[in-house]
Amino acid sequence: MSDLAIEISSLGKTYKKSKRSPEKIALKSIDLKIKKGSFFGLLGPNGAGKSTIINILAGLVNKTEGEVKIGGIDISKNPQAAKFKIGIVPQELIIDPFFNVHETLEIYAGYYGIRKADRRTDEIIEALGLKDKVNATPRSLSGGMRRRLLVAKALVHNPEILVLDEPTAGVDVELRNQLWNYVKKLNQSGTTILLTTHYLEEAEELCDELAIINHGQVIAYDRKENLMKSLSSKELIISCGAEITQDLGALFPDLALKLLAKDKISITYDPEKIEVEKILRIISDNQIRIKDISTQQPDLEEIFKHLIKSN
Ligand SMILES: Nc1ncnc2c1ncn2[C@@H]1O[C@H](COP(=O)(O)OP(=O)(O)O)[C@@H](O)[C@H]1O
Ligand SMILES: [Mg+2]
Repeated sequence: MSDLAIEISSLGKTYKKSKRSPEKIALKSIDLKIKKGSFFGLLGPNGAGKSTIINILAGLVNKTEGEVKIGGIDISKNPQAAKFKIGIVPQELIIDPFFNVHETLEIYAGYYGIRKADRRTDEIIEALGLKDKVNATPRSLSGGMRRRLLVAKALVHNPEILVLDEPTAGVDVELRNQLWNYVKKLNQSGTTILLTTHYLEEAEELCDELAIINHGQVIAYDRKENLMKSLSSKELIISCGAEITQDLGALFPDLALKLLAKDKISITYDPEKIEVEKILRIISDNQIRIKDISTQQPDLEEIFKHLIKSN
């Protein structure tokens, strides 16, 4: 028996050209191994390809290349059996408007062929704090409540693996905390969790392993502790008071630079590799005036750029 919950090998996806969009290579040779029982974070900026991976796991998008195994089952060879092992909470809040919360969960349990006696509808409703809403139609639910219902739906068949695609985007703090406590508990009781997010904080708090993807490729992949170390970069913002005419790219070939204005630049650097003093010295040695400086933790976008440069 494999100790892997999900095994993704050389996965590629090209969306075909359509009336609305040109051909798009969304995934290029992705390799990921997600161990049973782990809490795995898939991070990346918008458009990186996270949902494409999730939708391939869910059987909603067909892959173009490579192999995907869920609980040891090849999704191309036995899609139905693979579906039983995994519960997916999609990014979009799509819910059937015609059924109330209780009915929605019962219909899903029926869809998975779970006998009435074996259903956990009430237990799931209770666990997700939906008890007051059992008779509510999805249309009347707030965004946060809809998200809970989507999580509930993903759990009706007691899957070994729970996948959550950006579950906290636009969710209030209270729900976020409740959701995380619940997901943590599921993980502690043995469920493998795969979470996509573009919030670094969230990944930092929850996950034990992380992969970062950008433009459909894995650019970093490690245990959280190791990755966070390499993400300890900072952003230095320098106002020069006059237009910058020097070729900054040539001065700092190894750093991620961004021109914020004609006279203002942002430099993302790793304090363990280069001292801020050295950066400032290079700047003043090249007759660029420094009027003002500030540093900040970069947002994820900057970290990605930094990682891409140093990879
Ligand atoms: N159905 C589709 N048809 C064409 N292009 C798509 C489709 N779905 C996603 N894409 C494109 O594939 C890329 C990856 O998208 P996605 O997987 O949704 O990224 P993420 O979830 O990381 O934001 C994006 O450039 C997106 O525009
Ligand atoms: Mg997405």
